[in-house]
Formats: sequence, C-alpha cells, structure tokens
Amino acid sequence: MTAFDRDAWEQRWAQALRDHPDVDRRPPSAHLVAAAGDLPAGRALDAGCGHGAESLWLAAGGWRVTAVDFAETALEHARSAAESAGLADRIDWVRGDLGVWEPPPGRFDLVVCLYVHVAGPVREMVRRLAAGVAPRGTLLLVGHRPIDPATGRETAAAAQVQVSVEDATGALDPHEWEILVAEERPRAAAGSGVDAVVCARRLG
Ligand SMILES: C[S@@+](CC[C@H](N)C(=O)[O-])C[C@H]1O[C@@H](n2cnc3c(N)ncnc32)[C@H](O)[C@@H]1O
Repeated sequence: MTAFDRDAWEQRWAQALRDHPDVDRRPPSAHLVAAAGDLPAGRALDAGCGHGAESLWLAAGGWRVTAVDFAETALEHARSAAESAGLADRIDWVRGDLGVWEPPPGRFDLVVCLYVHVAGPVREMVRRLAAGVAPRGTLLLVGHRPIDPATGRETAAAAQVQVSVEDATGALDPHEWEILVAEERPRAAAGSGVDAVVCARRLG
C-alpha cells in the first residue's frame, strides 16, 4: 500500500467520516463558487468528489452531475447525503480510478478536479479530463501546493502530487483553450499554504 492509493484513501475516509460525519454539509469550495457560480447549469463532472459537498452544491444549483472517486467509503457517504437532500436523481456516482478513467469526449459543460493527488504524470491526467469538456465548457483545476511559499515549510499536501499552475496550463493547447485564471491563492487558514487555481474555457 502506498500513502495515496485506494486502500489508503478508504482508510482516510473511514476515519474522517467517523470524526466528521456531516462533512458533506460544509460550504462548497470557494474556488468552485467563484468559477461556476454564474454559469448556466448543464452537465458537470466532479473528478475526485470525495464526500460530495461540491457535487451536492452543483446538483442543488440545477446541474446534472457525474461524480467520480475511487474510494467507495466516500461514495457511499456522498450517495446517502444526496438521498437525504432529495438530489439523488441529479447525481451519478461512479467508482473510477482517475489514473486511467476517461470521461466521454466533449460530454461536460463543467469539469472540476479539486485537490486530487495523481500517481502518474499530472499533465496526462489534465489532458484526459480536459477532453471531457464540451466546446465553450469550463475546466477548473485546483491543487494544494506541497510547500508554503511564505514560510518555505511543508503543507498538509506534502508528498502529494496535485496540479500546479505550470502543469495545468502547460497541458492545455492554447489553440483550444482560453485561460481565465492561472494563479496561486493563499488558503483561508493562515499558514496552510497556497492553492494553485486554473480555470479555462474550451474554445468553440
Ligand atoms: C483531498 S480529497 C478531495 C475531495 C474533494 N475534491 C474536495 O475538494 O474536498 C482527494 C479525493 O480524491 C480521491 N482520489 C485520489 N486519487 C484518486 C484516483 N486515482 N482516482 C479516483 N479518486 C481519487 C480520494 O479518494 C479523495 O476522495
């Protein structure tokens, strides 16, 4: 077992959901709200959905959501939260490994991937997920950087490989994508480092 493989995530989720059983009720990611709050609802993919707070928020806003994660513990919890919220018919929960999982080409008006560690090359995963975005659709990628640039110290994402601004923008063909946001934003909790945020629109 490696630190971030499926078994490890199952164990993390079992512990996290014991400690915080209502985690799905936390507010959705501020990056997602900023990027998608004004978009017309359509089809969305939440890649690495975890407890499902973002999928639930999208579904409540009228989106039809496909939510993918490889941890069944998280998916079960998210599925049950969607049922309690009356959103079960708006979300398809898919158990899949984002190291290889391919979205149907051009299927989604919005593809979101927040804080997912990838075992393989980041740019390859970005390209694979980006292929699922429809013309004029939006891609939002966020990664917690492993080192806090303010202090030089390791963050909670140390040892993980999440998207960086450089990898995300480097993977997107400038003839096909308009980059709307590509920046590092300090996290809300002081001393917890920065998030790399890339939001891009697929040209029509
Ligand atoms: C840090 S959590 C983020 C969850 C959610 N996106 C959020 O922002 O709260 C990372 C999630 O990615 C999932 N994950 C990690 N590697 C994965 C992979 N190769 N395939 C599918 N899911 C993966 C984990 O199970 C976990 O739910």
